[in-house]
Amino acid sequence: MIYLAPIQGTTDRIYRNLFPVYFKGVDLAIAPFISSVKKMKPENNLLRDLQPDKNTGIPTIPQIMSSTPDDFTKLANTLYDIGYGTVNWNIGCPFPMVVKKGRGAGMLCYPDRVESFLIKTIPALKPKLSIKLRIGLTYPDEVLQLIPVFNQYPLKELIIHPRTGEQMYEGQVDLDMFEQCIKLSNHRVVYNGDIDSVQKLEMLVKRFGSIDRWMIGRGLLGNPFLAEKIKFNTEKPYDEKIKIMKAFHDQLFAEYSQILSGPAHITNKMKEIWTYMGNFFANGEKIRKKINKTHHRDNYVDIVNKVFSESLISAA
Ligand SMILES: Cc1cc2nc3c(=O)[nH]c(=O)nc-3n(C[C@H](O)[C@H](O)[C@H](O)COP(=O)(O)O)c2cc1C
Repeated sequence: MIYLAPIQGTTDRIYRNLFPVYFKGVDLAIAPFISSVKKMKPENNLLRDLQPDKNTGIPTIPQIMSSTPDDFTKLANTLYDIGYGTVNWNIGCPFPMVVKKGRGAGMLCYPDRVESFLIKTIPALKPKLSIKLRIGLTYPDEVLQLIPVFNQYPLKELIIHPRTGEQMYEGQVDLDMFEQCIKLSNHRVVYNGDIDSVQKLEMLVKRFGSIDRWMIGRGLLGNPFLAEKIKFNTEKPYDEKIKIMKAFHDQLFAEYSQILSGPAHITNKMKEIWTYMGNFFANGEKIRKKINKTHHRDNYVDIVNKVFSESLISAA
């Protein structure tokens, strides 16, 4: 099974709804985190975005980031009530603002806090719980204290990104530590990190025979055809792929235009999308630079149309 990783700012409901219209092979997505705060009203925008009738694309599991069991439970149970049988707890987010508050990856070096969080939440939770984590905040072996804690509780699965929080998104993934996690864990484990080609996945499959769930983030955003290639071993000609990318882009643009008011909002949103989508093109860096210079939607549309038509010409 292939999971689309949560990427805050990109894999929102509109992206997840449109993705399977154009690309095959992704089975499940984890939504970018929402923070649990005390007074989250049902009409809250973040919750509204997760309403099942507005999430008709890739089947999605919502994600919550919290270090407070009561707030987490309240929000998770609200999500259950609107239709989600599973929620995911984020204890991997490495951003300093988050870590400083002891949330996200800031939890990883405190197995006692993780344990008391689970002791309080598990009996009160209506949905099943899955956890997305890194292997540590500072040291890659911090996770070895956590797995025995997880083993004591009924969990749907662990999604492990084998980097430390301090590594952010760079540097090597620690496959040896990942292997130790699988050996120690009683729970189903999903691998996540740096899968950007069939070869990379094949290498992982060969090494981790017991794993059959793979989460892909940046690799899929940069090449949305990757899951189809992995699953069905099929690949479309380059010119056809460019046309599909353009249609996907144009529909994203149209849908974001409907909800984002003001010319800067829509161009900023699209610039975020291009951070990773640009990797689809051989000259992605140059394209991103050009797009980042646009400030008005007409100018943006001109540049993007040119990017696609030039790519088609070079594919011919
Ligand atoms: C810009 C950005 C935003 C992210 N937002 C989230 C998030 O909301 N929740 C989460 O669990 N992980 C988040 N991640 C981490 C990814 O889900 C994933 O674990 C990471 O990118 C490694 O996988 P990849 O190499 O396949 O991209 C984010 C990563 C990036 C680069």
